[in-house]
Amino acid sequence: MNRHTEFSGIQPKDHFWVEIYHLMNSIVQPRPIAWISSISSEGAVNLAPFSYFNICSMNPPIISNSIFFNRDGSEKDTLKNIKATKKYVVGTVSFQASEKANISSAPFDASVNEFEEANVHSIDRGSGEPPFISESPVQLVCELNQTLPLGEGAGVGTLVLGNVKEIYLSSELKDCEWQKGIPPEVMNNVGRMGGDFYAKTTDVFQLARATVDK
Ligand SMILES: Cc1cc2nc3c(=O)[nH]c(=O)nc-3n(C[C@H](O)[C@H](O)[C@H](O)COP(=O)(O)O)c2cc1C
Repeated sequence: MNRHTEFSGIQPKDHFWVEIYHLMNSIVQPRPIAWISSISSEGAVNLAPFSYFNICSMNPPIISNSIFFNRDGSEKDTLKNIKATKKYVVGTVSFQASEKANISSAPFDASVNEFEEANVHSIDRGSGEPPFISESPVQLVCELNQTLPLGEGAGVGTLVLGNVKEIYLSSELKDCEWQKGIPPEVMNNVGRMGGDFYAKTTDVFQLARATVDK
């Protein structure tokens, strides 16, 4: 195994934030992608991918997303919608759906429905409810727990914590013993890396959890 013995330091405060953004994205990787379906208080449907995404508590389940301000300092539609309606749905992004997820990330106007732009099939859940994403085998129905603004302006995130109220699995997963987890090849998720790189999850390996002999 390579050992690293000499390092050079970088102080984020001495650099333009976009340089640090590219650097951090290439360090903290691969990142899971939340494909977030949300609606505005007027009922406009929105879809966009977010990779500053994780689980932060399990009993009950709570997930986190960090949603940055747009580079012009304005709020992203997803954040506006979640703050306004407190509801959103997170779908997973498989390799097959990765191109559509990427198209849905384009900076469309709030009035534009990204499901239509990216040719993603929505599953209607009734008025006032964000639709399911038919290209995702799993849907997490979330309710806003809290937002934690980390500042304001370009490059600044708002941490969004959501309670996972319901978990819907596609009938294609009906043979999975979900209580033991869904096999990675069935999810076929992609991970976000630095730059324009993504990772497939087809090259996996297992390590039994380490224990201490007593
Ligand atoms: C794979 C991927 C992951 C992304 N992750 C994030 C993220 O974690 N946070 C963020 O603010 N923007 C992220 N973006 C950018 C948003 O998807 C993009 O700004 C989008 O236009 C936001 O849409 P909205 O204004 O409809 O909410 C990501 C883009 C891609 C392609």
